Amino acid sequence: MAETAEQTQQDGLLEPPEAVPTLTVAELEADPHGVFRAWRSRLPFVGHEIAGFVVLRARDVDLLMRDPRAQATETLHPRTRGILEGTLFDIFAHGMLTANGPVHRRRRSPFTRTFAARMIEGLRPGIRAAAEGLVRDWLPDGEVDLVARYAALIPARIIAGILGLPQDDVPRFTRLAYEVSRVLSFTFGPEDIPDLEAAAVALQDYVLGILEVRRAAPTDDFLSRFLAEAEATGELNPQEVVIQLVQMIIGGTDTTRVAGAMQVALLLQHPEQWAAVRGDPGLIPAAVAESLRYEPSVGSAARVAREDIVLDGHVVPAGSLLMLSTLSALRDEAAYARPDAFDIRRADLPRLHPIFGGGAHRCIGEALARVELEEGLGALTRLAPRLRLAGAMPVIRGHAGIRRIDALRVAA
Ligand code: HEM
Repeated sequence: MAETAEQTQQDGLLEPPEAVPTLTVAELEADPHGVFRAWRSRLPFVGHEIAGFVVLRARDVDLLMRDPRAQATETLHPRTRGILEGTLFDIFAHGMLTANGPVHRRRRSPFTRTFAARMIEGLRPGIRAAAEGLVRDWLPDGEVDLVARYAALIPARIIAGILGLPQDDVPRFTRLAYEVSRVLSFTFGPEDIPDLEAAAVALQDYVLGILEVRRAAPTDDFLSRFLAEAEATGELNPQEVVIQLVQMIIGGTDTTRVAGAMQVALLLQHPEQWAAVRGDPGLIPAAVAESLRYEPSVGSAARVAREDIVLDGHVVPAGSLLMLSTLSALRDEAAYARPDAFDIRRADLPRLHPIFGGGAHRCIGEALARVELEEGLGALTRLAPRLRLAGAMPVIRGHAGIRRIDALRVAA
């Protein structure tokens, strides 16, 4: 009995506290905004059939992102899904996203300078030119899927440029990143794990191959410097070198693809707001920020409770896996006026956008994502001002981790 309780505790799945319901993945996937809206006013968190507890309120999500009692999950997440070894497991065991304390700092620090806001601002003219080039590529076709032809290509090409990955490899590594990132969702079953593992191995092998090329013939790019420094200082072991790059590729592509497509869809769904942005480019940053609030591309961040945590009188037991729901927090009526209205002129978004998390793990790619999203939208408003939806609004799926989006049919 004692052993069973200990095992349950290790896996982050504890009995829900009294009066806290356990929600199924099926109901959360069917209508995440509706389900969270229904519970948020009544309870600070709900149980999740796989992932422990989902924290719902903006204030709690913000505090727990930075609270030492809620720590990064190390390998708890894959273990709850029965993944105990292999490359998928290694992504959690050796990556910055799931690490704590000095280990986390060691893995993150080689990237901080390159991704600092000041450095990324310097890339803005190049990102603008790349976005404009892509619009000019598809414009003659008239009607296209903007996800495939635009939103997916901007982040992938730019992260390839920064890291020093060959542009010809973009389709290959974006496909693999898209498959592997599903491991952060809860919509896969045991039968899907072999495919996810195969994609993780292929992505890892891809990075290993690139590193081999750079080791043999260093150039003046980020990858060569990163490799040389890691080997000279011994700060990162070879496996950590590979896994950090895998995480940068995953983080740098999927998240921004979904956000880039969704912001266009939302603006086209609200033609008066599209017209306002077209007429006043000064509104672009606000349009990007409101789109990230209204339909965030990342639904949650994972933590583990290191001790009992009391939220409004309800106790999250020590050892629980926690999903800090950015999706719910960004529609919290206690934080935002008319939270279910899409309004690029709202004045209640905090200066530091909550979609990028908080504390030690706050998104390292935030500045890059913002510049890509702003320039992506700017190029469209300038070069395709008569853009319109050519079908239904794209469906955005997922209540946790990186969310997924279908095609976005538009006509210029
Ligand atoms: C709209 C786009 C993006 C969103 C919404 C987003 C969201 C987030 C969030 C919420 C976290 C914190 C997770 C946590 O606390 O557990 C995070 C971390 C991270 N993001 Fe992003 N991200 C975006 C774009 C990017 C880009 C472009 C990159 C790559 C350049 C990137 C790379 C990462 C990495 C490596 C981490 C882990 C940081 C750490 O653990 O220290 N992200 N992101």
